Amino acid sequence: MKKLIKNGMIATDTAVFKGDILIDGEKIIEIGSDICADGAEVIDAAGKYVLPGAVDVHTHMDLDVGFARAIDDFYDGTVAAACGGTTTIVDHMAFGPKDCSLWHQVKEYHRLADGNAVVDYGFHGVFQHIHEETLSEMREIKEKEGITSFKVYMTYDYRLHDDEIFRVLRAAKEAGIVITVHCENHGVITQLRKEFVEEGHGEAKYHPLSRPAKCEAEAVNRMIHLAAMAGDAPLYIVHLSSAEGLHEVLKARAEHRPNLGVETCIQYLILTDKEYEDPEEGLKAIMSPPLRKDQDREELWQALADGTVDTVATDHCPFHYKAGKAEKQYGKDDFTKCPNGAPGVQERLMLLFSEGFMKGRISLPQVVKYSSSNPCRMFGMYPQKGSLEPGTDADIVIIDPNRKTVINENYIRGASDYSCYDGMELEGLIEKVFLRGEEIVSDGEFLGKRGDGMYLKRGESILAV
Ligand code: URP
Ligand code: ZN
Ligand code: ZN
Repeated sequence: MKKLIKNGMIATDTAVFKGDILIDGEKIIEIGSDICADGAEVIDAAGKYVLPGAVDVHTHMDLDVGFARAIDDFYDGTVAAACGGTTTIVDHMAFGPKDCSLWHQVKEYHRLADGNAVVDYGFHGVFQHIHEETLSEMREIKEKEGITSFKVYMTYDYRLHDDEIFRVLRAAKEAGIVITVHCENHGVITQLRKEFVEEGHGEAKYHPLSRPAKCEAEAVNRMIHLAAMAGDAPLYIVHLSSAEGLHEVLKARAEHRPNLGVETCIQYLILTDKEYEDPEEGLKAIMSPPLRKDQDREELWQALADGTVDTVATDHCPFHYKAGKAEKQYGKDDFTKCPNGAPGVQERLMLLFSEGFMKGRISLPQVVKYSSSNPCRMFGMYPQKGSLEPGTDADIVIIDPNRKTVINENYIRGASDYSCYDGMELEGLIEKVFLRGEEIVSDGEFLGKRGDGMYLKRGESILAV
C-alpha cells in the first residue's frame, strides 16, 4: 500500500516548505502539495517537521577493544539509532588480530551486522599496519564491497606512522578512496598519561589533561599537510573536538585545500570537561578526544553556522557504567584503564534539532545538512540516502516541535545504562520514523525487526572526485 505523509513542514538541506510526500514501497515517488492518492494510508503531519532519516557515519557497534567490548551490538545499537531518527549508520570497525589482512575485519563485521541491524548500514575499513598486499586489498575491498573509506589512527597501539600514512594517502588518492583519521599526537599523550599515573593522579579529571587540545591541533595540521603532499588526497577528519583543531581547519579552508571533510560529534557541541569534575560520574564521559571547554563548544557551533565543519556524528561506543560488568568502572582508580567511548546514536538528531535549531544556533536546513545530506555526500550514499526526492529511499523522520523529549532511563533504547545527557529536556519529539517506506518507530516504540537493515555498498565520495 502507498503511504501519503500530508501537510508536513518538509525540511531539506536547502529549504523548509509545506507539502506532502507520497511513498510507494521503499521509495518516495512524489513530493508536492495537495497530492491525492486513492487508497493510500494517510499520515497527518500538520504542524510537524518532516526530515530525511538521519545518517550517523561514525559509530562503533560491538567494538572489541581487547579488554572490553562495546555493549551495543548491531541490534541494540541500531534500535537506539532508529528510535533517535537515524536510519543509516556507517560503522568504524575494530582492529583485528595482529597482522591480519584488511579483509579479516570486513568479513567479521558482516558476521556481526548481517541479519542483526535494523537500520541500513555500511562499514569504513581500518588500517592497522601496512604490509605489501594491504594497499591492493584496499582497492579490492572498494570494488567488491563498496567500502569507499578507510580509517587511520594517529594514536593507539595500531596507529600508523607518517611514512605509512603517506603511502596510504597516495594509494587512496589514486583509487578514489577517502581516508578518515583520528587525529591526536600519540607521543605527548603517552608521556602525559604515564606521568599522571606515576604521580597518583588517576581521577577522571586527568583524562582531558592527558590529551590536550594541542595534541589534536598538531595532528590535524600534520594530517592536512600529509594529504597535500600526497597530491591532495581525500581526507576526512573524524570527531574534531577543539577550537585549536578547528583553527587548523580554518587555515586549510582559507588556503582552499581541496578534498577535506571535517566531522565533529554531538558531545563536543553539548558537553564540556565539567563532566569530569566528579571522579565517579566522570567515568561516563571518558572518550577520546576528551570533552573540552565552553569556548571550544561555542566555536564548534559557530563552525556549523558558517559551514566550516561538514558533518555531526556521534562516535557512539557505549560501555556499562553501573549494570552488568560495568566496564567503565575499570577506570575507577586509574582513568587510563577505563574503556574509551560513550553512547550518543539515539540522542544526536534531537540534540541538534533542539539545541541547534530550536535555540537558534543553526537553521533547520543546516540540521538536515549536518545530520544526513552531507554525511551521505562525504561517503557515497547521496541522494539514495540523506535526501527527500522522488526516486530515493523513503527514509523519513517526523518531529513534533510542540512536544518534549526528556532524557532519562525510560528514554534509552540501546544496551547502555546511562546517557551523557541525562536530565535534559529537549524541545521536540520524534513521532515517527520510516525506513525504506516501513514505519519502524512510532512514539518511541520500536516497530521494526531484527535484520531489516540492508548492507549498503557505497559509491564515490564528493571528496574523491
Ligand atoms: O573514545 C572513543 N572515541 N572510542 C572509540 C574509538 C575512537 O577513538 O574513535
Ligand atoms: Zn577516534
Ligand atoms: Zn570513533
